[in-house]
Amino acid sequence: MPPAPPTLKESAAYITQLGKPTAAEVLARARESGRTALQPRCGVGGHREMALLLKELETEGRPDLLTLTIDSHTRLRRFEHAARALRTDHRTLNGYPLVTHGWQRGRELNELVAVPLEIRHGSPDPRELFATAVACGITSFEGGGISYNLPYSKDVPLADSLAAWAEVDHICGELAGLGVVMDRELFGTLTAVLVPPSISLAVSVLEAVAAAAAGVRCISVSYPQSGHLAQDIAALRAVPLLAARYLPAGTDVHAVLHEFMGVFPRRRHHADDLIFYGALTARLGGASKLITKTHQEAHGIPDAAANAAGLRLAAVARSPLLDFVTVDEDAVAEELEWILRETAEIVEPVLAAPRLDTAIVTAFAAGRLDIPFSASRHARSEVIPRRDGDGAVRYHSPGRLPLSAASTARNRRLLDGPTRTGGSTTGSTGLPGADLFQALRRDIDYFPLLFGELPQDTTAPGSTTADSATSTPGKEPAL
Ligand code: 5AD
Repeated sequence: MPPAPPTLKESAAYITQLGKPTAAEVLARARESGRTALQPRCGVGGHREMALLLKELETEGRPDLLTLTIDSHTRLRRFEHAARALRTDHRTLNGYPLVTHGWQRGRELNELVAVPLEIRHGSPDPRELFATAVACGITSFEGGGISYNLPYSKDVPLADSLAAWAEVDHICGELAGLGVVMDRELFGTLTAVLVPPSISLAVSVLEAVAAAAAGVRCISVSYPQSGHLAQDIAALRAVPLLAARYLPAGTDVHAVLHEFMGVFPRRRHHADDLIFYGALTARLGGASKLITKTHQEAHGIPDAAANAAGLRLAAVARSPLLDFVTVDEDAVAEELEWILRETAEIVEPVLAAPRLDTAIVTAFAAGRLDIPFSASRHARSEVIPRRDGDGAVRYHSPGRLPLSAASTARNRRLLDGPTRTGGSTTGSTGLPGADLFQALRRDIDYFPLLFGELPQDTTAPGSTTADSATSTPGKEPAL
């Protein structure tokens, strides 16, 4: 029989005497110094292998935080499946099965590295995983009742995931009472495909309000890079403004950027360009933290060397020599104003309801809250995003979101406007179904197209695109 897990009080005492900073402390230092903290994803099934991976990344990549990426069985609470995989072949797991390895092994990993650890997963019901993480002394936990349900699960009722995550948030409140501030990072990336900033931020505001009410003191609001510089910087800069507007004073709120989460270019030098661009975006947007990508992104889960290289490349963007890199502040201000406006239009009717959790459930059922391309039947997914001629993500159709006439008109105008190069329009708002589908594919393949990895002539409306979802055998570029 394994020893009984520690009580919350014992875990808090363990964290306090561990002699390493908490995630909240690292994030606060990053924000104060203006030097974005860097964090990779990483997780393998075997315990020894996980320990080696963390050590290698710490030495070779010098991250400010490290991750335990959790395997899919554990995410879905199939602990028996994870145990079987550990007995037969741990290499079949796509992450570290923390609950199955147990809290003592988790402590071993925590004590092995100097930087704080975060759990990244995707569970609609993370209660066992969270309890184990706390027992391991892990001080950051990703997810939320909306953002770890709708993009991942087909049929988990929102009421269930919200209730499970409320338990997690309440325990964070108890830990704060014991002197340990847990960082709760929300997953604003959602489905990672053309997510309009105001949808990402609206979902995060709602999760953050719920978390703060439950006692969470440190909240990281993550946002997925769209690839449009002014839009991304504005979205990051919106985070503290939204926090001031909607969250109780004393809640520590951080902006976190996910380097591009969509279809990555396949060639290493193109991928590296995009990684560096993401890191510069985080710098200019004042993000406390950047979640890094690797040049192997288009090819699957990265190996340790590629992961460390991604960290080192992102670190270059923090150089003091790059102070000369600036952004069109007028363009950012314009984007920021509209992002705040759209976000307010989406969240304020929900926040006005007497009970937030039931208001979220009914709003998603009615489509007044919505996310594009949801995996779940508990969101309507009637929102259709598109890129405008400059590459910014706009609402082609806001579905049933309560956007004002002014917001909708601006989105339409920008989608119908000229391209950056002054050429033909994207002509997007009147596209018939098949053309809209092709146009969406081009928007999704934005970076491979931009780098010339896919045929450019497919950009004309009405033409057929090459199948970019599958690679051509034998034509795989070298990594
Ligand atoms: N280790 C490292 N990265 C991972 N990802 C998923 N699982 C792991 C893992 N075990 C990354 C994917 C993608 C993102 C969604 O998460 O490669 O970049």
